Amino acid sequence: MTQHLIQTRRILLTGGAGFIGSHTYVALVRAGYSVAILDNFANARRDVPDRLAQIVNAPTTVYDCDIRSEKDVSQVFDSERFDAVVHFAALKSVPEGQADPLGYYETNCGGLFNIASAMKATGVEKMVFSSSAAIYGEPAEMPIREDSRPSPQSVYAQTKLVGEEFLTSLSAADQDLQVGILRYFNPVGAHPSGLIGEDPSQPPTNLVPVIARVALGLIPSLTVYGGDYPTADGTGVRDYIHVQDLAHGHVLSLDALFAGRGNHCVNLGTGTGYSVLDVVKAYERASGQHIPYEITNRRPGDPAVSCAATDLARKLLGFEAQLGLDDMCAGNWQFIKEA
Ligand SMILES: NC(=O)c1ccc[n+]([C@@H]2O[C@H](COP(=O)([O-])OP(=O)(O)OC[C@H]3O[C@@H](n4cnc5c(N)ncnc54)[C@H](O)[C@@H]3O)[C@@H](O)[C@H]2O)c1
Repeated sequence: MTQHLIQTRRILLTGGAGFIGSHTYVALVRAGYSVAILDNFANARRDVPDRLAQIVNAPTTVYDCDIRSEKDVSQVFDSERFDAVVHFAALKSVPEGQADPLGYYETNCGGLFNIASAMKATGVEKMVFSSSAAIYGEPAEMPIREDSRPSPQSVYAQTKLVGEEFLTSLSAADQDLQVGILRYFNPVGAHPSGLIGEDPSQPPTNLVPVIARVALGLIPSLTVYGGDYPTADGTGVRDYIHVQDLAHGHVLSLDALFAGRGNHCVNLGTGTGYSVLDVVKAYERASGQHIPYEITNRRPGDPAVSCAATDLARKLLGFEAQLGLDDMCAGNWQFIKEA
């Protein structure tokens, strides 16, 4: 009888205790990868690793490390051998980035530099990088294709574009390095266990976590920025994607890198747009709560519509989102009301 020795690939998930990172942890473990988390818990609860252990029924390896420290990052990479990195760790609030641009560059660009340097020093040749639809700004065409001209409208979005360009330049110069750049649209939802979800320790700025706070009675009403856009109900339209679908996208991206299919840069969205009021109604259905809202002025830099072209992710990764807005709101509510 022939015995096949299957080498489990070891993946370092920076920011793995965060919202998208924790769901990706579960998806990667279920797909057969062995995963370690690096996080400084700046925006994650300390008990997330225990919750992950409960979900996958196996202990979690966690490096409590700040990516801004070159020394601490090197120590993590010296302590074991990784086959790839999925790099989530970043700061992600648009208003916070405007108030502290240097801090945002330090974490999102300096931290990325430290990770890439440690990868080079230890021979790690594959990275999946969290980018954002925010890099497109106010797009000239809809749906937004990956070759649309980037036009970041905030420090946060600019740090993501700098990160993309840095990695693209590195991988062009160093043929051994392969990079998957994933531009997320608007992730919502939670794992069906209800154990992990979007649980920001800072006041939320994303739509659904704010709606959730209204549903819980923590905020009296939702502020809707702009009711006079050229959309069906006048409010801004966005492409929301279930975090479980997004997590699966990372498995496909890593699989593609390990299969030697080369660098890729793709949108991860559903291609379907929902207005702010569509999301409010869906959340009311999911929670059974009334969500009062008031419409105020548009925010500068917010496009009327932002939806992903999804054909490239389908072609290069075989990615197709499966879950819809009702699943996203139901998942968020289940998690939030038990958190
Ligand atoms: N959630 C979104 O709407 C969205 C959209 C597009 C792109 N992204 C990107 O996806 C990634 C993950 O986002 P998320 O929503 O899960 O955010 P999150 O804040 O939940 O996760 C980020 C994680 O990084 C950790 N972290 C922050 N600074 C760190 C540091 N200096 N050292 C080590 N760890 C650090 C945080 O503690 C957190 O666990 C980010 O890179 C973000 O920019 C998010």
